[in-house]
Amino acid sequence: MRLILQKLVLAFMHLWLWWSSSIHVDAADDSLNPGDTFNSSSQLYSKSRNYFLDFYSLLSGGEFFTYLAIQNAHDNTIVWDANKEQSVHQNDAVLSLNFSGVLKIEYPSVNKPIILYSPPQPINNTVATLLDTGNFVLQHLHSNGTTTLLWQSFDYPTNTLIPTMKLGVNHKTGHRWLLFSYLTEGRATPGGFSLEWEPKGQELMIRRRGKVCWKSGKLRNNRFEHIPEDAQGVLNYSIVSNGNEDSFSFTSTNENITYFWSLSDTGRLYYDDKEGYVARADLCYGYNNTDGGCQRWQDIPKCRIPGDVFTKKSLYPNYENVTYEENENISHSDCEAACWSNCNCSGFKELYTDGSGCRFYQWNSSKDYIVDGTVSGEDFYVLENKRNIIPHHHGTKGWIWISTVIATTLLIICALILCLAIKKRKHVLQEKKRKEMTLMEDFGNDLNKKHGLKVLDYSLVVAATNEFSSENKLGQGGFGPVYKGTLPTGEEVAIKRLARSSAQGIVEFKNELTLICELQHMNLVQLLGCCIHEEEKILIYEYMPNKSLDFYLFEDGTRSKLLDWNKRFSIIQGIAQGLLYLHKYSRLKVIHRDLKASNILLDENMNPKISDFGMARMFTQQDSISNTNKVVGTYGYMSPEYAMEGVFSTKSDVYSFGVLLLEIVTGRKNTSFYDDDHPLNLVGHVWELWKDDKYFELVDPSLNEVFDHEEVQRCIHIGLLCVEHYANDRPTMSNIILMLTSKSEIVSLPQIPAFYVQRNHCFYSRNDYFY
Ligand SMILES: *[C@@H]1O[C@H](CO)[C@@H](O)[C@H](O)[C@H]1NC(C)=O
Ligand SMILES: *[C@@H]1O[C@H](CO)[C@@H](O)[C@H](O)[C@H]1NC(C)=O
Ligand SMILES: *[C@@H]1O[C@H](CO)[C@@H](O)[C@H](O)[C@H]1NC(C)=O
Ligand SMILES: *[C@@H]1O[C@H](CO)[C@@H](O)[C@H](O)[C@H]1NC(C)=O
Ligand SMILES: *[C@@H]1O[C@H](CO)[C@@H](O)[C@H](O)[C@H]1NC(C)=O
Ligand SMILES: *[C@@H]1O[C@H](CO)[C@@H](O)[C@H](O)[C@H]1NC(C)=O
Ligand SMILES: *[C@@H]1O[C@H](CO)[C@@H](O)[C@H](O)[C@H]1NC(C)=O
Ligand SMILES: *[C@@H]1O[C@H](CO)[C@@H](O)[C@H](O)[C@H]1NC(C)=O
Ligand SMILES: *[C@@H]1O[C@H](CO)[C@@H](O)[C@H](O)[C@H]1NC(C)=O
Ligand SMILES: *[C@@H]1O[C@H](CO)[C@@H](O)[C@H](O)[C@H]1NC(C)=O
Ligand SMILES: *[C@@H]1O[C@H](CO)[C@@H](O)[C@H](O)[C@H]1NC(C)=O
Repeated sequence: MRLILQKLVLAFMHLWLWWSSSIHVDAADDSLNPGDTFNSSSQLYSKSRNYFLDFYSLLSGGEFFTYLAIQNAHDNTIVWDANKEQSVHQNDAVLSLNFSGVLKIEYPSVNKPIILYSPPQPINNTVATLLDTGNFVLQHLHSNGTTTLLWQSFDYPTNTLIPTMKLGVNHKTGHRWLLFSYLTEGRATPGGFSLEWEPKGQELMIRRRGKVCWKSGKLRNNRFEHIPEDAQGVLNYSIVSNGNEDSFSFTSTNENITYFWSLSDTGRLYYDDKEGYVARADLCYGYNNTDGGCQRWQDIPKCRIPGDVFTKKSLYPNYENVTYEENENISHSDCEAACWSNCNCSGFKELYTDGSGCRFYQWNSSKDYIVDGTVSGEDFYVLENKRNIIPHHHGTKGWIWISTVIATTLLIICALILCLAIKKRKHVLQEKKRKEMTLMEDFGNDLNKKHGLKVLDYSLVVAATNEFSSENKLGQGGFGPVYKGTLPTGEEVAIKRLARSSAQGIVEFKNELTLICELQHMNLVQLLGCCIHEEEKILIYEYMPNKSLDFYLFEDGTRSKLLDWNKRFSIIQGIAQGLLYLHKYSRLKVIHRDLKASNILLDENMNPKISDFGMARMFTQQDSISNTNKVVGTYGYMSPEYAMEGVFSTKSDVYSFGVLLLEIVTGRKNTSFYDDDHPLNLVGHVWELWKDDKYFELVDPSLNEVFDHEEVQRCIHIGLLCVEHYANDRPTMSNIILMLTSKSEIVSLPQIPAFYVQRNHCFYSRNDYFY
């Protein structure tokens, strides 16, 4: 499981592999003595090299989480994390044992160290050792040659149980041993599930936030009733029950097989990385106590019936009645539990890219959402009744006969409905329009009250723009012209008149507007108000006096000289921050889909502000119904998967960002970059020069060779990483910001970019498509 994760963490892994193969600071030793320190370059191996201890990083939701971890040396499974509650920074974390016997992790970026153990009285003679069992122990060495155990990692399990590690309770100290799942796959913070030993019933159980989901059943002949035979084949269980403790542990009867149980963030108890299960608490919905140890619950809501389960689907819902649970400390399983126990909830979606947080949806029937992976590519978890889908056992002939009857009946009914529908259609259309008008009035009040958005009178807008005169026209956006307007207060605004042709209804418009209102970031153009008049929908934005980036960038005269390198670099960083916000920190994951130089506006201090955000998606929602193949965006900035298949994700924005970044460095447009000697687009051209190490030839001549070489190289490097063919190979916006701001060398090397057009041959990166 986590092996898969490691593969995903490509860039980081390169670094990590490099470290682990080139540096073995403490490799010869299995112990830390007082005064020793241990940093991210160090590793501590147990005597027979079964396990090792080091600082290990996981990339989750675009952030690195670093833990002091014990790993199995054979398969790199993490079996323990020291600092699961609080991750540290890879670069500056140090584990130390000091002369007072204090074992702690210090990291200068935070003042307070993480204390693993501190003795009541200072103890000088201590030693911390990683044992061959995978137990990291701190011992007190006495002068007569004996030792006392002060602390051991086995007392603080994370999500993995390895041989000889205990579950249960120590009656002397009251200390309990139990496993907690990770919060999400990449974050060791204790999550929703726990695995415990229940001494009274002499069985294992899994709880979800305290509620018992699953029980193993009693132990008979060294076997638990509800654990599959495959999962306990090589195990020898050991149960201790006396005045000192009540505990459970296992050993493997074949010492050559590394064996462990691991509790996943979704409530599955794995027994190895091959996806074998000891228990599946994720399948326990509380209906039945017969299925594999699942427990029955008293408090099942009336609206849920046996067979209701969550199914993962890629779909695009009607955005009505959405509620959020915005908490990075709740996991997928918490969302599931909350949705399941609320009869109004039909399904949910994860809020953050790392899988935490929830967004709940309500719909009456499957008509209220569109199942279409190509439109949104977003994963939803929908409550469905699986029992009704189970096939019936009729004879084949009887089945065909029944199907025919049903089909014929349906056909007749459909025909009737169609007739009625055609008759009623006109009437319905009129009715709909009337309804929308009423909705609109409520809508205005609502927006104003809840979101502080101005709803302007149409006459005012007409006056502000001189009746939409051509002198006031600032440009033509993707969805209609933009005018400069002056409100009666003297405030200057940009007024965008959305094309009438959009078939979007008032409700959808309102939903999208509410979403946009919530987007507030210094690198995004702020929406100030709106106006609706009959068919007309108008948006009012803050006015940007310095026009857009393309106005300066793609001009060879004085304007491009206004953008010196420092300004360009800060513009690049601003755009990156704005995009990161859209992708990650706004309440909704917004994918811009039309990022380009003309959509980057500049304020009076030449700070960049992304405009047109969210609009692309707002229109596609309607377009998708009539034409799923329609791709909104600008050629030259579009990622291959979006241009060719209509699939978009945050990584398609990353692609556009890469193109934009290369344009800012070179001052050339990606699309209009052809001459007879070089029938290449900009991306191809940059790639060619980069390969030959001549990339400084790329830099915009308007800069007069005044620029920071290291920053330029970094930008080109990042730009090429962003335009990689496969979305998975492109970095996330948070990686990009990390790379832009840090001084350390970028590890991953770019590969041949997408849409790379070579002399006289057109080929589409690694595949043979034609573009
Ligand atoms: C780790 O410590 C060693 C020795 O103290 C030092 O040379 C090395 O630079 C440190 N590594 C990091 C990443 O801080
Ligand atoms: C060991 O660390 C603890 C906690 O940081 C500190 O209070 C103590 O003074 C240290 N002892 C020595 C000998 O440095
Ligand atoms: C602890 O022991 C070491 C060596 O055994 C000695 O050098 C040091 O002075 C001792 N420190 C204290 C505070 O007793
Ligand atoms: C060794 O010394 C420690 C502490 O001084 C004491 O608790 C322990 O009983 C001694 N062990 C033996 C075998 O003498
Ligand atoms: C199981 O473990 C016990 C002690 O923990 C040992 O006596 C016994 O031989 C083991 N059984 C097998 C089959 O290894
Ligand atoms: C474990 O491996 C060693 C060496 O490969 C072998 O001698 C031993 O018999 C194996 N033990 C078992 C239980 O298979
Ligand atoms: C429990 O599950 C079994 C087997 O799947 C099924 O036959 C039975 O009807 C279920 N009972 C309830 C109360 O859902
Ligand atoms: C949304 O909520 C409103 C009022 O809260 C309700 O009237 C309406 O029926 C709900 N829509 C859906 C899809 O349930
Ligand atoms: C999540 O938990 C951490 C530490 O437990 C806490 O600092 C943080 O405020 C929590 N976040 C939320 C949104 O509750
Ligand atoms: C479900 O929706 C109804 C009507 O929209 C509302 O009255 C009720 O409070 C909601 N229930 C929950 C648990 O949110
Ligand atoms: C769901 O049903 C309610 C009541 O029947 C209706 O008011 C609402 O508009 C429906 N919602 C959707 C999204 O169809």
